[in-house]
Amino acid sequence: MRPLIAGNWKMYKSASEVRFFCEEIQKKIGQLSVDLAIFPQAVHLPLFSTIFTATKQNHFFWGPQNIHYKEMGAFTGELSPLAAKEFGSEMVIIGHSERRQFFGETNTSAAERALGAITFGLQPIFCVGETLEEREANRTMEVIDQQLAPLFSLVKEPSSSFSIAYEPVWAIGTGKTATALQAQEVQQQIRKRIESSWGKENAAKCRILYGGSVKPENAKEILSQPDVDGALVGGASLEVGSFLSIAAAANQ
Ligand code: PGA
Repeated sequence: MRPLIAGNWKMYKSASEVRFFCEEIQKKIGQLSVDLAIFPQAVHLPLFSTIFTATKQNHFFWGPQNIHYKEMGAFTGELSPLAAKEFGSEMVIIGHSERRQFFGETNTSAAERALGAITFGLQPIFCVGETLEEREANRTMEVIDQQLAPLFSLVKEPSSSFSIAYEPVWAIGTGKTATALQAQEVQQQIRKRIESSWGKENAAKCRILYGGSVKPENAKEILSQPDVDGALVGGASLEVGSFLSIAAAANQ
């Protein structure tokens, strides 16, 4: 499976910083044999489509950090999947733990957004993960099962390039990474859950990413695990150099 290295830019970068990053990465992405994706603030999506449309690379994608599940409507402050697609978006992050923690995203609303994404032709990266207290109470898989249950009941068939990102909340932005073994253990279980809900073929096709303090220094070990098919990278995706080093680690 071709790995996916995705950069979640959260609420960072000005327009000129976005332009700089895009121009730099454009010079280098031809040489990679992984898929790369960037998730900027939605307001910057048009910059991606302007910069990359003329030289659209097959394995370079972008998209928003969230979308609504309807194509349009009276939903102040939300982003339509169709509007995101107008600017070349092909993927979308769904259910990130910061959406769950600060903006009331629930397991059900995240599943609805994933279904909306698929309906309107965006490939979701659906995020799951436990808090430190949940891990310490040995509840990791119980929590992940709860996060996945509405997804499996609403989405009967995943899209062609559906991803699940395992992001332990205690590892996001903290500098604490799950060990490669911890990531593998959970991701192997997630693959089994995909297989029992969506079947063997989809389990082999869905990419399971790891996210949480992935950096050039730890990327190779994590990405070498059999059930780690890529990474969702926050802080280390903000610089072209570190983002590409992580991509290179996936390449090896
Ligand atoms: P981090 O963020 O790499 O800065 O820990 C990961 C994420 O939030 O997706």
